[in-house]
Amino acid sequence: MAEHIGIVGAGYVGLTSAACFARLGHRVTCVDADESKVDQLRRGEVAIAEPGLPELVAQGRSDGTLTFTDAQAELYGTDLVFLCLPTPPDRDGAPDLGVLEQVVPQLGRLLRPGSVVVTKSTVPVGTAARLPGLLRRDDLPVVSNPEFLREGHAVDDFLHPDRVVVGTDPPNSAAAQRVARLYEPTGAPVVATDSASAELAKYASNAFLAVKLSYVNVLAELCERFGADVREVARTMGMDARIGPEFLAPGPGWGGSCLPKDTSALLHAAESAGVEFGILRDAVRVNARQRARVVRAVRQAVTGSAAGSLAGTRIGLLGLAFKAGTGDLRDSPALAVAAELARAGAELTAHDPAVGTVPGLDAVQVVDDPYLVAKDAAALVVLTEWPEFRDLDWARLAASAAQAVVVDTRNLLDPDTLAGAGFTHIGVGTHPRRQS
Ligand code: UGA
Repeated sequence: MAEHIGIVGAGYVGLTSAACFARLGHRVTCVDADESKVDQLRRGEVAIAEPGLPELVAQGRSDGTLTFTDAQAELYGTDLVFLCLPTPPDRDGAPDLGVLEQVVPQLGRLLRPGSVVVTKSTVPVGTAARLPGLLRRDDLPVVSNPEFLREGHAVDDFLHPDRVVVGTDPPNSAAAQRVARLYEPTGAPVVATDSASAELAKYASNAFLAVKLSYVNVLAELCERFGADVREVARTMGMDARIGPEFLAPGPGWGGSCLPKDTSALLHAAESAGVEFGILRDAVRVNARQRARVVRAVRQAVTGSAAGSLAGTRIGLLGLAFKAGTGDLRDSPALAVAAELARAGAELTAHDPAVGTVPGLDAVQVVDDPYLVAKDAAALVVLTEWPEFRDLDWARLAASAAQAVVVDTRNLLDPDTLAGAGFTHIGVGTHPRRQS
């Protein structure tokens, strides 16, 4: 049954949800307080780089199933309203609910009886239980329906989810079933549970991924000490169905707009509840240490000593975004490494296929041409796993570098190809491969 859905917030979660619900056959009204964003969307301009999203937005607009407005009043008459609002961390790492607390009472004054209010973007455990009080209504059922969308894969993740979670108190209420029905065409299994479990499941998933990554990053360090290869160790581990092969690639640390924010929020929540979550605290600590580890590897590669000076040394960076497939610099480990290298006195030139400038980090010269990063460089450092870096002309890079050495923090490049091109390849948790 087609429903009239309201989406509050046209960020990457809100806009993806709006476009995908329209794709699934519903009528969607997407509201955002930012007039200029709404104007852009009305013109069909999608500022968020998500594969497939501009096409879905265009389709919805031309079918008339997807409309954008800055007038909240247009939500009157909607059957379900999804809250896709930001909850950025405050200084302690606790989520700031200011926007939600401002918007929800306004919705309470305008929604028609029986409209279902759904939390979709990540909110602290206990938020759904607070909503009736904030709405000041007892005729608006509340459902927690957390999103599990990866940046750069959001449309695909929305239309092909591993699971759909609907939390209500009591579980599996009529409202929960109504929300679950929206996803029926995806064929995904539904977890109908209480709202606190639904909310916690989101944090638990992101925090577990963070723990898995910090685990493998320490394992990589151990491999270097023992002369083992982390790729072989991780491959073996990943073949165990209980562990699974994903999120076992070491790197310069995990980042982005979600994992750091959600681990801090969960740690904060655990602390308030008087529960010691040491394993998660350690994962965060290991992650902070990871950038120093990369800088040490660069010092070693350039000077032959892990404590050698980088002052005045030219270093080329490949990648700035927090992961490939996005230009997002929020909490990017690549930027954190760049900042540390700059503090150590290195002169940095960087290229990222999706990044043109780095606001606030003047020490890094960003160039459009990847070959310019190698010019007179004492080392190249791969920080983001863009596949196109593999296809660069590495012999050409070697010819213009002062020293043909690459520190590959993502184990992205083929060591034999690099050696053939004249480079020494230093991966993470792998055997260094000298130039041949
Ligand atoms: C993450 C989760 O994966 C989504 O399920 C979740 O919905 C989303 O947060 C959210 O809460 O909205 P995302 O932030 O897009 O998605 O990024 P991921 O793809 O999870 O990558 C996180 C970090 O881990 C990146 O810095 C990435 O480079 C790093 N990573 C990932 C590794 O270092 N190694 C890996 O094997 C995988």
